[in-house]
Amino acid sequence: MNLPHRFTGALAVGGSVGRMSVSHGAAPVAPKKPVRVGLLGCGTVGNALAELIAKDSAVLAASTGLGLEIARVAVRDATKTRSVHVRPESVTGDPESVVSASDVDVVVEVMGGVEPARSLILSALRSGKPVVTANKELLASHWSELFRAAADSGVDLLHEAAVAGAIPLVRALRESLAGETITSVMGIVNGTTNYILTKMSEAGTSYEDALAEAQHLGYAETDPTADVEGHDAAAKAAILATIAFGQEVRASDVHTEGISAISASDIAVVRRLGYEVKLLAVAESVDGGRVAVRVHPAMVPLDHPLAGVRGSFNAVFVVGEAVGEMMFYGRGAGGMPTAAAVLGDLVDAAHNLRSGGYGRVSVPIRAHIVPIDELVAQYFVSVDVADKPGVLATVARVFGDNQVSIRSMEQVGLGDEAHLVFLTHTANEARVQATLAGLETCDAVKRVGALLRVVGEPEGTR
Ligand code: NAP
Ligand code: HSE
Repeated sequence: MNLPHRFTGALAVGGSVGRMSVSHGAAPVAPKKPVRVGLLGCGTVGNALAELIAKDSAVLAASTGLGLEIARVAVRDATKTRSVHVRPESVTGDPESVVSASDVDVVVEVMGGVEPARSLILSALRSGKPVVTANKELLASHWSELFRAAADSGVDLLHEAAVAGAIPLVRALRESLAGETITSVMGIVNGTTNYILTKMSEAGTSYEDALAEAQHLGYAETDPTADVEGHDAAAKAAILATIAFGQEVRASDVHTEGISAISASDIAVVRRLGYEVKLLAVAESVDGGRVAVRVHPAMVPLDHPLAGVRGSFNAVFVVGEAVGEMMFYGRGAGGMPTAAAVLGDLVDAAHNLRSGGYGRVSVPIRAHIVPIDELVAQYFVSVDVADKPGVLATVARVFGDNQVSIRSMEQVGLGDEAHLVFLTHTANEARVQATLAGLETCDAVKRVGALLRVVGEPEGTR
């Protein structure tokens, strides 16, 4: 097919299949009425989306034949200053009025949280309006309900921005890899924690200062506990596992540990051992079709590609039976990168709406989850102790009593600052958890600190 140089009109290529805009040198196609967007939320992402639509609307109209216009905007506080690209008269504090408005064709939900976002999205879908959302917390807890409503109404529910920000990962898993048997998905999916860990590791920045910077840069959730305690990454892991394995995984299924117990001194020791600390989300398809899914801080060898992922960047490894390994890398957080992903979905949803189609929607069965107790790995354990004779022997005995074999040990700091860091041989999670419980009740132990699992290399390779 000879592709023309000028792109002016729009040619629908089969409903959900794709979009293509061509000109055959004939009379220009008359511009269609713009697709009108109802925006629920106008904070970091919503403001950036308004700016992108304003900036790119001419290019978008030329390349897709679609005009996009923000018709109405719902926020919590309608008196706050918004992007200059949001008409003040379009702003309301009543989100239901935006969803039900006859001049709204597509709803974009970037308000976050479960309610009222869930009810609003259901209401939009049931009235036949496609929805684009960046809300991983909601998707990871109400997937079936939302997608059933989308399927029943025959409209799109798109959510590229909900996982790994700007990286086109959801679409790749859902469409490009639709015929592939995925065996594992592993990566860095939270920009805030990766930013904090990078700052602590490379610049010696304190945890508190690094978190404040991440918040200032717009990476963190409204409540940053969701980031630092791993809940945001757990929601993303659940969504990735659901798409990759075709079984519904919820955030509550994901074994979740955050980074708040990790100190700069733990990171320094880990680096000396030849590793970087990263918060990883891991989802694996294991024997009998079960799904193992977890989020935890991990020791990643310095020569592993994930160790070099810095700042707010995300990276995800996908392994499939036919395709082998592939890695997706890009900006995982922040207003503009996230808004770019929302805009991509919005163009698709608007196009499908115009052509009368919608993307493939499936409502998967619930996953059979592997308990974390079955995990086998090498572990790093950091323990604050009293610096006096006999303490090391007492602490080491707790490991031995639980059949956890110690590979190496180091004392860091002296006196009140003393702590012991242990690296174990390959051990079973249940036994390591029993060891931690034993350490908690040990008189010589002041505090059990970081727990890290080694990933990326089998034991004995270094
Ligand atoms: P944000 O800056 O806190 O903005 C939230 C917006 O929603 C605000 O405009 C807020 O109104 C409005 N809102 C909240 N509750 C509302 C309610 N009950 N009724 C009406 N409006 C309400 O959040 P954000 O960072 O843009 O994130 C939005 C969504 O995108 C979340 O689901 C988040 O997880 C997701 N996300 C964010 C990023 C990122 O990097 N920030 C990346 C990927 C995905 P006010 O302005 O009046 O407070
Ligand atoms: N708070 C999230 C993060 C935003 O830091 O990754 C992107 O989902």
